[in-house]
Amino acid sequence: MDLTNRDSFGSKFGVIAAAAGSAIGLGNIWRFPYVLGANGGGAFLLIYLIFVVVIGIPVMMSEFVIGRSAQRNPYGAFRILAPGRPWYLVGIMGVAAAFMILAFYAAVAGWTMEYLYQSVVNGFSGKSAEEMSTMFDTFRSGSARPVIWFLVFMVMTSCIVMAGIQKGIEKYTKVLMPVLLLLLIALSIRSLTLPGAGEGLVFLFKPDFSKITGKVVLEALGQAFFSLSIGMGTLITYGSYIQKKERLGNTAVSVSLTDTFIAVLAGVAIFPAVFAFSIDPASGEDLVFKTLPVIFQQMPGGYFFSLIFFLLLAVAALTSTISVLEVVVANFTEEFQFGRRKATVLAALAISVLGIFASGSWSWFKELDIFGFSVFELLDHTSANYMLPLGGFFIVVFVGWFMGKPKVSGELSSNGMFPVRYYPLFLFIVRFIAPIAIALVFLNSLGLF
Ligand code: TRP
Repeated sequence: MDLTNRDSFGSKFGVIAAAAGSAIGLGNIWRFPYVLGANGGGAFLLIYLIFVVVIGIPVMMSEFVIGRSAQRNPYGAFRILAPGRPWYLVGIMGVAAAFMILAFYAAVAGWTMEYLYQSVVNGFSGKSAEEMSTMFDTFRSGSARPVIWFLVFMVMTSCIVMAGIQKGIEKYTKVLMPVLLLLLIALSIRSLTLPGAGEGLVFLFKPDFSKITGKVVLEALGQAFFSLSIGMGTLITYGSYIQKKERLGNTAVSVSLTDTFIAVLAGVAIFPAVFAFSIDPASGEDLVFKTLPVIFQQMPGGYFFSLIFFLLLAVAALTSTISVLEVVVANFTEEFQFGRRKATVLAALAISVLGIFASGSWSWFKELDIFGFSVFELLDHTSANYMLPLGGFFIVVFVGWFMGKPKVSGELSSNGMFPVRYYPLFLFIVRFIAPIAIALVFLNSLGLF
């Protein structure tokens, strides 16, 4: 296959925008608050932040190193860098994780489409916090609507992925993500000035160490991986599109810090309102959908804020779903020589079947129970908490122990173009700290200590 024809990102800001576009999404604004709320608040946040720095950033750098060095999708990358060895299994697990994540993620993206629609028709107007909560439950347990929105979202994702990297991804993210940030700031200001907001801040920022359990630590790790888009090869794929003259270390640090800042900001927007409106912070995947519209109702210009917010949230979700689908498509085109169009259609169809089960978890498939989980919960929980950290474990072990120092440091320094004084620290983390920490979190969650 002719590698000189591979797409690449055009500019430095393009790389950061595309990788940040992948990282920033429903993981920050929907998943982070719901998982934090369900895991006791401040202590979870603290552990989450530690994991982002100690494990997340090194894993992200490692994915970039693997991708840019091999110029391939995750599966192909491992085949090239470790021929004849079973490392490609990590790539296969990544493709499997991509299927699972896209199935439930696009379902939630479908919910944001419904909320965008409700914003347009002014459907939130005059509703109390309680009525807003009933509204969401009614929508989600209704028969066809959630599924139709899910399918709409899959079609939008597929169209962009079909169009290709340069045109498809960079263009949107560059402009729209900064606007989302401004909106979140406006939302935070309104939320913080609600009566009773202080309690939400205490919940978010004051660690209650008695709340830390094996499950809380595991979920913090899973959320860090999920939010940073690491552990399944998304950023191996994106790394393969990064030009040789970019600094991988800087890119990973900027993307991770931006992503984390947005998640915390989402927390600042949500939790004061959660407490002000007496919503249960541990209510689960419905938390932000039940909280946000109530905040908009209490804002001057709420109609427009809610409209733009759900629009941008859908766009943020879209820049993430395209990055997940891209993993599968890059795999199909490079390994099976499918055309881009055929690969995209096949992948999207297969994922849609799974996603219909996920988005129907509150209606058609309500009775379906797999080890005590609904399809949605199973996909969400298994992919984030187990598959991504396991993938991350193998990725750092691969870079730390198998890839060889010349290749790794050559990639990080762009063959000596940039100084990489952090290299010994990086190597120590990917060899020892990160893998041991991930292993300990797994063992701890099994109750082995
Ligand atoms: N990180 C994205 C978000 O927070 C979701 C996402 C995109 C993702 N690509 C991923 C999650 C790869 C895990 C792995 O919304």
